[in-house]
Amino acid sequence: MKIVCYLFIFHSLILAVLCTGDKQFVYSGFGGANLTLDGAATVTPDGLLQLTNGTGNMKGHAFYPTPIHFRKTPNGAVQSFSVAFMFGIVSLHADLSAHGMVFLISPSKNFSTALPSQYLGLFNPQNNGKITNHVFAVELDTNQNKEFHDINNNHVGIDVNSLHSVQSHDAGYYDNEDGTFQNLTLASHDVMQVWVDYDSQYTRISVTMAPIRMPKPMRPLITATYNLSEVFTEPAYIGFSAATSPINSRHYILGWSFGMSMPAPAIDTSKLPELPRVGPKPQSKILEIILPIATAALVSVTIVIIFELKRRRQMYAEVCEDWEAEFGPHRFAYKDLFHATKGFNKRNLLGTGGFGSVYRGVLPISKLEVAVKKISHESRQGMKEFVAEIVSIGCLRHRNLVRLLGYCRRKGELLLVYDYMSNGSLDKYLYFDEGTCILDWSTRFHIIQDVACGLHYLHEKWEKVVIHRDIKASNVLLDSKMNGRLGDFGLARLYDHGKDPQTTHVVGTIGYLAPELTRTGKTSPLTDVFAFGIFLLEVTCGQRPLKQNAQDAQIILVDWVLEHWRNRRLIEVVDSRLNGNFDMEEACLLLRLGLLCSHPFAGSRPSMKLVMQYLDGDVPFPDATLMDMNVKILSMMENEGFNLSTMSHQQLMTSFGTMSILSGGR
Ligand SMILES: Nc1ncnc2c1ncn2[C@@H]1O[C@H](COP(=O)(O)OP(=O)(O)O)[C@@H](O)[C@H]1O
Ligand SMILES: *[C@@H]1O[C@H](CO)[C@@H](O)[C@H](O)[C@H]1NC(C)=O
Ligand SMILES: *[C@@H]1O[C@H](CO)[C@@H](O)[C@H](O)[C@H]1NC(C)=O
Ligand SMILES: *[C@@H]1O[C@H](CO)[C@@H](O)[C@H](O)[C@H]1NC(C)=O
Ligand SMILES: *[C@@H]1O[C@H](CO)[C@@H](O)[C@H](O)[C@H]1NC(C)=O
Ligand SMILES: *[C@@H]1O[C@H](CO)[C@@H](O)[C@H](O)[C@H]1NC(C)=O
Ligand SMILES: *[C@@H]1O[C@H](CO)[C@@H](O)[C@H](O)[C@H]1NC(C)=O
Ligand SMILES: *[C@@H]1O[C@H](CO)[C@@H](O)[C@H](O)[C@H]1NC(C)=O
Ligand SMILES: [Mg+2]
Repeated sequence: MKIVCYLFIFHSLILAVLCTGDKQFVYSGFGGANLTLDGAATVTPDGLLQLTNGTGNMKGHAFYPTPIHFRKTPNGAVQSFSVAFMFGIVSLHADLSAHGMVFLISPSKNFSTALPSQYLGLFNPQNNGKITNHVFAVELDTNQNKEFHDINNNHVGIDVNSLHSVQSHDAGYYDNEDGTFQNLTLASHDVMQVWVDYDSQYTRISVTMAPIRMPKPMRPLITATYNLSEVFTEPAYIGFSAATSPINSRHYILGWSFGMSMPAPAIDTSKLPELPRVGPKPQSKILEIILPIATAALVSVTIVIIFELKRRRQMYAEVCEDWEAEFGPHRFAYKDLFHATKGFNKRNLLGTGGFGSVYRGVLPISKLEVAVKKISHESRQGMKEFVAEIVSIGCLRHRNLVRLLGYCRRKGELLLVYDYMSNGSLDKYLYFDEGTCILDWSTRFHIIQDVACGLHYLHEKWEKVVIHRDIKASNVLLDSKMNGRLGDFGLARLYDHGKDPQTTHVVGTIGYLAPELTRTGKTSPLTDVFAFGIFLLEVTCGQRPLKQNAQDAQIILVDWVLEHWRNRRLIEVVDSRLNGNFDMEEACLLLRLGLLCSHPFAGSRPSMKLVMQYLDGDVPFPDATLMDMNVKILSMMENEGFNLSTMSHQQLMTSFGTMSILSGGR
């Protein structure tokens, strides 16, 4: 047997025509296929066999190029054969296609006299129904033509020499699982597969169809008994025909296979070309994919932006009332403070005190270094007065005061913006630097003079008397030149406002509270002087106003100093870490002045002006004043009802010390 094999490979499409004496062939796509085409039929560049091209009233044919011998001998019977093909009908109007297509076997490839439209490019009114046609066809008809007794506009039919079908049925298939009939729409733009089988023994023709990629259904759609030996010429051509009416539609074959006396070879569906998209202006696939994605992205981005803006608005929300207008220039935007402190980052935290946390920051535009104090504060009635006061006094300019630059108010929060003091607060130098870098004597003395000067300014030099209320080492800050500056003045007042005077509780820091403050709750410049006196002793001795000794007993710094003074060993109390490197006279002055300022009897305390004069050496410190102190204390104690003859001096002083902490203020 002569075996001729052609193997064509055109780009990704593989056309394999395996011809064993024309016994079988398979086209998985038609790229490079040698078909005989006429009319509107063409093979598109991507390998689709296009029978009609959308122009109305056209027909198109495609034939396997060589005739096929269906009989073993010239007068023998037609052998069994099997055909499979995949088709798609694409019409401009969905589900409405003008006329269909056929698979056909005919004596010739010349259909020049056939008509389009309902004649499907197969016959014409003259030859339709004539047995001389020798044409066998399977029609896929999308129109109902009453003259040919069509059952509907979506049917499959077996035609012999005539468009009046031998047998026909709705397009569809019988389900393998439950045997039910499932409709298929021929002009649905979906690809479908058709099998045409002829059994020569029983002269039975069966036609089966299914959606693409579904295995061949067991039950055929149509079966008809017809002895094709009486129809076919020998040899005969096999191929396709399609026709259009004025309605725009296109008929495509995607793959085709044939087997003589054997099942049609499988068509490789992975290699099939794609059906073109529908519509007069086929939309770009990119647009179709990108448009929804872009829309979705746009919508989600918009939502995210809205949420972000809302979040930011909430995050940066401030509280601002009408009365604040006059403080406008001192008002900061929360957003700026937020960014300046890197979102109140822990790494920017300078310290936390009784009123809140202090953060270091750099203002966005001016690049000025600031310290931002964040005070949790429930909105209360005194807020207006407080802000007014804090802002007006806070903006005082003095070389020994930490300048308040402005403030900001949020719900439950008050933010105060101060100049940043690069060397931090004095308490750090006094207590935390374990022996290393202890503040030397002259710096200490200098800082004390600075603080005295600052406090003097608050008490006497400004238009109003300003009481600091919270003098202590941690509120003395050091600038880059180690100058002392008083900070936090007036702040204590925030907790002091709008309260019933009967229940006024004292604000300040334990150890620095003057005795009369604990009893009357009334502040005066002299209560500041008391705290300043304790501060003097603190700096000189390098010890906190209250501390626990080894036996866990509380030692009160004033009592301890006073005791040494009475025993004439005053100089022993000076900070031992100085290793004796201090000015004896200055040390004595500071200690005695400290005792005097922290005199339990307010009237015995000097004014800040006098304190400055003592410190500057302009006025000599009168030892007599201090001597006088004991006498005054004793008489006062008697007035208070103490039985002096039963008490030691130590007990007496401790009584005063405890009185000053009884209130339990801050
Ligand atoms: N203007 C400032 N510049 C630099 N550091 C500051 C400034 N204000 C406060 N601090 C630091 O923040 C810490 C906490 O301050 P604060 O809240 O006033 O608490 P307290 O004064 O009770 O210690 C202080 O101990 C100090 O070290
Ligand atoms: C279809 O084919 C015919 C004949 O080849 C041609 O005249 C017509 O312009 C084609 N129509 C389209 C839409 O390509
Ligand atoms: C295509 O088929 C025709 C007709 O049978 C034949 O003459 C021609 O040589 C074939 N061409 C190719 C490239 O096979
Ligand atoms: C096809 O048939 C017609 C009429 O039968 C004839 O005129 C025409 O020449 C034929 N065409 C070919 C290509 O054989
Ligand atoms: C199939 O189509 C016919 C006519 O269009 C309809 O009457 C029938 O209900 C359909 N059957 C199914 C199962 O969809
Ligand atoms: C079919 O027709 C041929 C020729 O007329 C005949 O030889 C053959 O026996 C017929 N087959 C059957 C099954 O009737
Ligand atoms: C104080 O700050 C200045 C500048 O910031 C620095 O040069 C100096 O060493 C600091 N002094 C101390 C004792 O830390
Ligand atoms: C004080 O105590 C002493 C001794 O207990 C007693 O004699 C004296 O009367 C008391 N003085 C007063 C005023 O209570
Ligand atoms: Mg402070």
